Amino acid sequence: MLLAFSDEGTGPVVVLLHGFPLNRSMWDAQVRALAPAHRVIVPDLRGHGESPAPDAVYAMDLMAEDVVEMLDGLGIAEPVVVGGLSMGGYVALALALNHPDRIRGLVLADTRAAADSPEAAAKREETAQAVLKTGDLGPLIEGMVPRLFSRSTFRDRPGLVPPIKAAMEQTTPAGVAGALRGMACRPDRRDRLGEIPCPVLVAVGEDDAISPPDEARAIAESLPAGRLAVIPRAGHLAPYENPDAFNPALLDFLRDVPPHA
Ligand code: MLT
Repeated sequence: MLLAFSDEGTGPVVVLLHGFPLNRSMWDAQVRALAPAHRVIVPDLRGHGESPAPDAVYAMDLMAEDVVEMLDGLGIAEPVVVGGLSMGGYVALALALNHPDRIRGLVLADTRAAADSPEAAAKREETAQAVLKTGDLGPLIEGMVPRLFSRSTFRDRPGLVPPIKAAMEQTTPAGVAGALRGMACRPDRRDRLGEIPCPVLVAVGEDDAISPPDEARAIAESLPAGRLAVIPRAGHLAPYENPDAFNPALLDFLRDVPPHA
């Protein structure tokens, strides 16, 4: 699948994968911070933003293949750094496990390695069916927004909320359903974290209610070369809510990732 993407800057390649049901705009502050010294490639994952939204189950492995196809299309064969937030992190993890030769560093932001519980998977299917039937994303958005941000974001930086709602509103029912069904069937990757040899930054908002810091810490500890960054004054959208803390952690990490041979 041909993905829409932005491609800015020159230098070592960094690919950033957004969360559900958002689009590449959530990474704007990271693109600005990295582009002076990196080539930052930021796709809209299938079903999101300007990318096609076929009627299908968007398995995380399939979304990872879309990213590989994008890199192939750009002639980028050397290993790159891939970062993903939440659903984007599930995709980044699939990429690292399925194509270890394409990855030289990984950033897992506000994400999980565990699978859905049967209850959570059933709830996703229910939501997918409701969205496809009614075409209305309103209940999904209203249910998600309060859990996405830290209280301090709602209080001190409320202007960050409307652009995220707007990004969600642009996602199509087919895209939402495809991603929900893909996330519901994603495997538990916890027992495979030890297979990832490259350096990994595990970053998490201190107030992340969806993928909490304890889970991030467990991921970092299971990785051969994992490091943890807990981002203050941030919830589930740490890079977006507090780029002033997230970006220095990311830049420090990128400086430490060995260049490819
Ligand atoms: C996301 O932010 O991508 C979602 O919260 C992921 C999920 O629902 O598991």
